[in-house]
Amino acid sequence: RSAPPATLVIFGASGDLTRRKLLPAVESLARHNRLPSQFALVGVARTPMADEQFAASALGDRTLTDKAQLQGGIRYVSGGYDDPDTYKRLAETLDELDAQRGTAGNRLFYLSTPAEAFEPVIHGLAGAGLNHAREGSFSRLVIEKPYGRDLPSARELDAVVHGSFDEPQVFRIDHYLGKDTVQNVLALRFANSIFQPIWDRSWVDHVQITVAETLGVGTRGGFYEHAGAMRDIVQNHVLQVLALALMEPPASFEAEGLRNEKVKLLQAIRLPTNRDIADLAVRGQYTRGGTRDDLMAGYREEVGVDPLSRTETYAAMRLNVDNWRWAGVPFYVRTGKRLPARVTEVALQFQRPPHLPIPQDQLTGLEADALILRIQPNEGISLRFGAKVPGHSFRVRTASMDFSYEQTFAEESPEAYERLLLDALLGDPTLFIRSDEVEQSWRVVDPIIEHWASDNSPIPTYEAASWGPADADRLIGRSGRAWKNSI
Ligand code: BG6
Repeated sequence: RSAPPATLVIFGASGDLTRRKLLPAVESLARHNRLPSQFALVGVARTPMADEQFAASALGDRTLTDKAQLQGGIRYVSGGYDDPDTYKRLAETLDELDAQRGTAGNRLFYLSTPAEAFEPVIHGLAGAGLNHAREGSFSRLVIEKPYGRDLPSARELDAVVHGSFDEPQVFRIDHYLGKDTVQNVLALRFANSIFQPIWDRSWVDHVQITVAETLGVGTRGGFYEHAGAMRDIVQNHVLQVLALALMEPPASFEAEGLRNEKVKLLQAIRLPTNRDIADLAVRGQYTRGGTRDDLMAGYREEVGVDPLSRTETYAAMRLNVDNWRWAGVPFYVRTGKRLPARVTEVALQFQRPPHLPIPQDQLTGLEADALILRIQPNEGISLRFGAKVPGHSFRVRTASMDFSYEQTFAEESPEAYERLLLDALLGDPTLFIRSDEVEQSWRVVDPIIEHWASDNSPIPTYEAASWGPADADRLIGRSGRAWKNSI
């Protein structure tokens, strides 16, 4: 697969995401010969910068051959996002590139700015007529998260987007969908027949989805203060992974079929009521912690964070999915910053056998059977089950069958952004979020965020490098279950 002739225009070109993810993704696509020679890159941002300076940041220290492929096709346009002149100059640059590089009038506009700039950029593009491609070419919009900050604002943003772009032109990005291991949830479930029969309420006791990070908020305190764990991770990454893990089999992996199934699953998530909401959702904020050699600041001490901040850096929920497959099965999801390990995984725990013909004292060390999909790190899958311990007695202990991506495949995984950029250039929306998915996701998290906003009690805390607030253990412990923290 390689991209068609096109110009990629990145708004927010001097920003953090561009430097850390987007430019390396472009460079890697070029290095793997997935970009045609008729490709160009334009950065747009307020910060003044020369073409050469932007080119240098895009190319890094690549070899001369790689550079040759991109060089000459890199431009930088500086200007205010609400200044029509910025878009006039951008349009001229794009026409010039079409003439010089043969980019064929194809444009992919990537919005990697702070969310406040989405609206002015969309108006600016439309004002310069850049929302419409000429006959036979494309004009597409890739939008980074956060897509709104609740359901009403997401709808408003959609109205702005749809005022100038048709839905097929819009690619809402959730980089988790670009991860091979997230796509592998689909492979595991639907390219095999052995898992599907046990993938339901008859066999699954409960499911845990964990997105744990060891990092704190770093330099993003100012942004994070207005987000929090629920908006930053649960509304998008967690619910996307959950939807893929629990949805019904689509007839094909064609974009609409797949996205229809995800939407149906999200629609089936039961909303909490005022009475049970406090039992179903838990938040927390990290305080100073770690070891003496590695002492980590508390969230309120981070740069850009209000010393009295009530923003959650940890969130956990118990969800129910009201459909035939999952009725009665609890789904526990959690995410947090400054947890003891970086791990993203989906763990299906299976029910205990209906009867155990083995004396209880022979079963110490036997945990419930589980299938663990490790999204990152140590990408792979583990199946945990009971096995007879060698010896004269009949003791049974948990054993594990492990599949590791690294050991099994010689092929390399592309970075999530690399994969998704190529898909957007190719016009494949399968791994992008449709407008109704965004709405359904906000529908799920909004009541909890509102409940927390109206709750004036002190925000629960957890020490940096611990597994979250004590309330989270109570959340899952209420049903006699426990988080799997052994990883
Ligand atoms: C981003 C969040 O979407 O995902 C960050 O804004 C988070 O806060 C990041 O750190 C995690 O992504 P990954 O790919 O490192 O798991």
